[in-house]
Amino acid sequence: MSLYLWIFSLLLQANSLTGKTNGLKLPLIHPESPEASVSNRIQQRKHQSDEMKGLIRPQVHIQSPHYYMVKINVGTFKTNSQTYYLYMDTGSDLLWLQCEGCRAPGGRCFPQKEPVYPNGKSSSYRPLPCNKHSLCVPNQCINTSCSYNIRYADGTSSSGLLAFENFAFASNLGRVETLQQLMFGCGVDNRNNYGNSSNQIAGIMGLGWGSYSIINQANSVTQGKFSYCLPVVNKYTKKWPITYLKFGTDVIRRPNMNATPLLQIKNQIPYHLILQGISINNKKLNISANEFSSGSCIIDSGTPFSRLIRPAYLVLEKALRKHFWGRLDLKPYKGPKGFELCYERRKAQGFKNLPRMTLHLQKADLSLQPEALFIVMDKIAAKGEYFCLAIIPSDVKTVIGSYQQTNQRLIYETKQKQLFFVVEDCSRDA
Ligand SMILES: *[C@@H]1O[C@H](CO)[C@@H](O)[C@H](O)[C@H]1NC(C)=O
Ligand SMILES: *[C@@H]1O[C@H](CO)[C@@H](O)[C@H](O)[C@H]1NC(C)=O
Ligand SMILES: *[C@@H]1O[C@H](CO)[C@@H](O)[C@H](O)[C@H]1NC(C)=O
Repeated sequence: MSLYLWIFSLLLQANSLTGKTNGLKLPLIHPESPEASVSNRIQQRKHQSDEMKGLIRPQVHIQSPHYYMVKINVGTFKTNSQTYYLYMDTGSDLLWLQCEGCRAPGGRCFPQKEPVYPNGKSSSYRPLPCNKHSLCVPNQCINTSCSYNIRYADGTSSSGLLAFENFAFASNLGRVETLQQLMFGCGVDNRNNYGNSSNQIAGIMGLGWGSYSIINQANSVTQGKFSYCLPVVNKYTKKWPITYLKFGTDVIRRPNMNATPLLQIKNQIPYHLILQGISINNKKLNISANEFSSGSCIIDSGTPFSRLIRPAYLVLEKALRKHFWGRLDLKPYKGPKGFELCYERRKAQGFKNLPRMTLHLQKADLSLQPEALFIVMDKIAAKGEYFCLAIIPSDVKTVIGSYQQTNQRLIYETKQKQLFFVVEDCSRDA
């Protein structure tokens, strides 16, 4: 990365009051928070049978979307810069958003609430000239500019021009921090299924391994590290806590944190972990070691509900059926499509009397409380509630999704190649 860093001057606008010159901290917004004021909260995603072609973003039919957005300001205009929300995704590396070209003939936009980014009117927008930059895919240009084409497993895709632009983040304490001339994808042919015209998501912010990721592009600010803590969001949580995506010197490691290797397998973009076993209420499941081979597990903020490789999933499901067997207050239930293990309960108990799960990662255990293992929902046309195991079988890879990452402080140190984590109440994230 250092070879081409000279091409763009990356500056961090220091706060004039604190004189802080490094680190970066952006608010993370859940789509159901008033801040986002989305009305796409009932997001009916279709379940696909051949879901995993390129992996990463499985689809689940579920009433509470579980993804997080980063709020950004883009460009330089005579009046204010434009505000957008981007889906935070550690499973990909490019940052892209819908640009005005998608409205032109031959372009394609998905519905979004805000007008698409008017890049032509921004004085700091600079398309990347064809074949002159190491991040330009050779001879893949539109007119005289480099192009990109990115596809995700859930059917989302974007193609368009690679360009430099200034990004600003309304940080904590009212501070505004800018990353100048960051390379991004200006999307002219974009597809997704985030919902109708009240959808807030204008694009994706990729944080994975890879040269396009801002972790690498803004290396002088990020120092190759970032951190987040995703709050639990369910029918019992009333407030919408503000949490932050933090970079560089804003990432503070505590002495009691667990550490596990964070791997890049071949040139893949997602962060791989070494999963060695699974326990339910401290009882180890009898899963063959073959299911935990190298490169078989990733951690991904862009996947709402975890995937578990099918043979291991079947052992887990069987163990949970055994755990719940004979409980007179429970009755098997047909839950939302995608979830295979659900029970109804006549009397609401929330997350009480549900088991815990431990993921035995190399050198560290990741403990999932019931709040991160099950969804608990009210039955729609009847009294009572039901719960489902919020993990889905996969025929491709094990993916630790965002629901299973809640109430954990996670620190990705990409230079040291370590993931640090510890249980934390993320609603108190500052
Ligand atoms: C968008 O979808 C939501 C949920 O399905 C619905 O409530 C809302 O009315 C829709 N809005 C528009 C503008 O179609
Ligand atoms: C390429 O150039 C043509 C002619 O100037 C223009 O009409 C078209 O919009 C350009 N395409 C893109 C993607 O900018
Ligand atoms: C574990 O599973 C394997 C394969 O299903 C079986 O052969 C073995 O007996 C099991 N071990 C225990 C301790 O249950």
